[in-house]
Amino acid sequence: MTELILALDTPRTADALRLLEELPALEWVKVGSILMTREGPDFVRQLTGRGLKVFLDLKWHDIPNTVAGAVTVAREIGVSMATVHTLGGSAMLESAVVAAGGEVALVGVTVLTSHNGAGYGRAVGRQEVDLAMEVERLALVAMAAGLQGVVCSPHEVSLLRRRLGRGPQIVVPGIRRQADPAGDQARVATAKDAVTNGATHLVVGRPILQASDPAAAFEEFLQEAR
Ligand code: C5P
Repeated sequence: MTELILALDTPRTADALRLLEELPALEWVKVGSILMTREGPDFVRQLTGRGLKVFLDLKWHDIPNTVAGAVTVAREIGVSMATVHTLGGSAMLESAVVAAGGEVALVGVTVLTSHNGAGYGRAVGRQEVDLAMEVERLALVAMAAGLQGVVCSPHEVSLLRRRLGRGPQIVVPGIRRQADPAGDQARVATAKDAVTNGATHLVVGRPILQASDPAAAFEEFLQEAR
């Protein structure tokens, strides 16, 4: 079964809590930079106190000691899953895995879903970057360091599932229904396609957050995910 994670990209706790009241079937929430910066760890504790699993998406990319410290705190406050950036390198990823102690599932961000080949190439100073090859390369770095899985766009799920085998978790943002606007996401697909290709977790934000009826939109994604 594929899990559906709601990206709680709302600016304030009050908005997030109002939304949670509307979604009783929700099991997983993703807390990212916006909400974490504003509300901090107490908000995470509120979420876990409601029985929700928290996916902390801060995409850590720092020196190994700092990332290990952050993972330790995430573990202490009850986070179930968290992101580290694979571009942080093997030493950083391995330190993070030790700090997680098997209690926080760490997944490695490969290439952000907002990148296309040209933009990514400019960021890393290379020309003609084949994003699929780059995602595969970074996913293998993540696996070698002992991470539980990776984050990738819907376009690379089937490649990674074939390459990594059945075990690793594959977390996929950039999920849209046919009629949903892509927004700033460059590589999107439907929930059904991502699930068919081997995603274990789908991350959906704006198509639910900005829907006129968030509960109905959530239910649609849930049906597709399952
Ligand atoms: O609103 P939308 O459905 O595009 O939200 C996707 C969520 O997934 C956002 O919170 C974004 O920060 C996150 N994400 C992403 N691409 C990654 C990792 C996380 O879009 N590679």
